[in-house]
Amino acid sequence: MAQRHRDHLPEDFSERSLSEDVRSGLTSSPKTLPPKWFYDKVGSELYEEITRLPEYYPFAVEREILMARAPEIVSAAGSHHLIELGSGSSEKTRALIEAVLASTPDGEQAAYRAIDVSESALRAAAEDLALRYPALELESVRADFEHGLAEALAVDEGDRTGGRLVIFLGGTIGNQNPQQRQRFLATLHGALEPGDAFLLGADLVKSPDVLVPAYDDAAGVTAAFNLNVLEVVNGRLGADFDPRDFRHVAVWDAENAWIEMRLEAVRDVHVRIADLDLEVDFAAGEQLRTEISAKFTRERLAAEFEAAGFDAAGWWTDDAGRFSVSLWTVAARALT
Ligand code: AVJ
Repeated sequence: MAQRHRDHLPEDFSERSLSEDVRSGLTSSPKTLPPKWFYDKVGSELYEEITRLPEYYPFAVEREILMARAPEIVSAAGSHHLIELGSGSSEKTRALIEAVLASTPDGEQAAYRAIDVSESALRAAAEDLALRYPALELESVRADFEHGLAEALAVDEGDRTGGRLVIFLGGTIGNQNPQQRQRFLATLHGALEPGDAFLLGADLVKSPDVLVPAYDDAAGVTAAFNLNVLEVVNGRLGADFDPRDFRHVAVWDAENAWIEMRLEAVRDVHVRIADLDLEVDFAAGEQLRTEISAKFTRERLAAEFEAAGFDAAGWWTDDAGRFSVSLWTVAARALT
C-alpha cells in the first residue's frame, strides 16, 4: 500500500525551540522546562522502562482498555481513517488499527496517519505497520502538534469517504496546563468536521498513595528519566549541569489535580549554558518544574469538551476505574 511521508518542520526546528524553551524557562521564576525535551534516545528508553514498572499503571491499563474495547470504540466512532497525535511507536494503536481493518467495508480504504515530532519514531513505526498491515494506507507527518495541529490535520486526503478518528493516547493531554488544553481543544474543534471524532486516553484522579509512586518509583527509573533532561540540555546546548547537584521530586497537587515533577538543587548551583551565553543560579532547595501530569474526572473532561463544542460519545475505563478512554464528536451544525 502507498506510503507517504511529509515534513512540516524546518530542519533546525528542534534546536530553535529547545533554545527558546531553555532560555525562557530557566530565567523565569519559578524555573520550568517543558516535558517534551525528556525524549531524546536515552529518555525514550527510560520512558519505555517506566511503562514496565509495577508502580506505573497508566500504560498497562490503557492498553488493557484498548485491547478489550477496540471494536466497540471503532464502531462508535464509525470511521476507518485514524489520525494519531504523538504516535511514538504506534504500539498500542495496533488494537484500533486492527478493529478499523476488520470493519472497513469492501471497496473502501482503511488509513492511518501518524503525527509525531520524532522522525526516527515515525520511520520505525511506519516500517513495522507496513509489514503487519499490507492493506492499510499509511501516512506519516512530522509536525509539532502544539504549534502545527491545524496544519497537520488539514491535508488533502484524496478520495477519503466518511469521518476521521483523531486519537491522542497515553494520558499525554495531562502534560498541558488548563490554558494550553483549552487552546488545544479549540484548535482541534476548528480542524474537525461534523462526522469526525476524537478519542482521548486520560488518566483519572485517584489516591496519592497510588499516584505518587507512579511518578517516584522504588527502582529510581523515573528519577533517572527526570534528571536526564539536564543531560539533554548539556548535550544539545553545551550546558554544564551536573545531575548529582539535583534530586528528583514528585508531588501531588490536589488543588490543581496534577502530579508535578521537579528537580531540586541539593546545594547552591551555578550553571553555564554556553550556546545561549546564559548563566543560571539555583539556591540550595530551589526547584525546577519539569512536568505536570494532570489527572481527570469524567465530569471535568465532559465540562471542558462540551465548552469546546464537542459531544460525549463514549466512555471506557478498566474495572478499577484507574484510566479512561473517551470518545468525543463534533456537534453537527443545527439545521434551520
Ligand atoms: C508519557 C506524558 C503520559 O505523564 O505519565 C511518565 C510521562 N512522566 N513518568 C505521564 C511520564 C513521568 C507520561 N506521559
